[in-house]
Amino acid sequence: MHALLKKLPPSVTALLLQVAALVLVILSLRVANLQTTPMAFALLCGLFAALLSRFAGLARWWLAIQLLFAPALVLMLAFNIPSGFFLAAFVMMLAVYWSTFRTQVPLYLSSNKVWRALEDFLPSEKQDTNFKFIDLGSGLGGVLTHLASVRPDGQYSGVESAPLPLLWSWLRIKLGGYRNCKVHWGSIWNDKLGACDLAQYDVVFAYLSPVPMERLWRKARAEMRPGTVFISSTFSVPEQAPHETVQVDDLHRSTLLIWRM
Ligand SMILES: C[S@@+](CC[C@H](N)C(=O)[O-])C[C@H]1O[C@@H](n2cnc3c(N)ncnc32)[C@H](O)[C@@H]1O
Repeated sequence: MHALLKKLPPSVTALLLQVAALVLVILSLRVANLQTTPMAFALLCGLFAALLSRFAGLARWWLAIQLLFAPALVLMLAFNIPSGFFLAAFVMMLAVYWSTFRTQVPLYLSSNKVWRALEDFLPSEKQDTNFKFIDLGSGLGGVLTHLASVRPDGQYSGVESAPLPLLWSWLRIKLGGYRNCKVHWGSIWNDKLGACDLAQYDVVFAYLSPVPMERLWRKARAEMRPGTVFISSTFSVPEQAPHETVQVDDLHRSTLLIWRM
């Protein structure tokens, strides 16, 4: 059972454990022949869910979410908020985060200082005109449009799976008149248009999360050409020391990890 849960995305495991906690609380109250208030019922569900999550090995922050989820539901119901509000909030979150529950890579943005630090890893202006750069998981397109404006001699591509960030970056590129930039809707792993074949690029940039780094490294090793550059912001590759690191003096204390392939 434990092994099975480990294979599922944490969010799905958390949901299953909420259902299991609900069933356990209902059965326990039936057996003990007890009646409770909705809030006491929700607190019990939260407690059971947090305990089950602890045994299932979910990360610590999930325990707090699991504990508070059902009580928060009961509290929100007490405010009589129209159900359309929740639907709208859900659609908005879906458009921004899309498959984050599966990829475990949410949207958060590189700082302007990271954008500037990346300039140093583009091929020198004399050496390679029309070099190609890709941002894997390009978010709102800030990396691409910044680099395209300071180094117009490159071709900049992004791939993004979430619809709203994609639309945002597409508009940013169109309205800003960046002719050397494009973004594609798709997944890094399953890209029908071939934009994620890393053999085409001189510089590959990713700012994702710890979860996909091992798989991404294998893809980079298999596809990237010798002499090209792979850069991960903040997240390391297990057992692969970078050839260079750059500490960026921004709010997140970002580090660029650089591998020369
Ligand atoms: C941490 S953000 C980085 C955004 C941008 N690259 C930056 O540096 O500001 C990661 C982005 O990757 C996207 N993403 C996550 N998994 C993806 C996948 N498998 N394929 C394409 N995009 C993905 C997310 O939707 C999110 O917008």
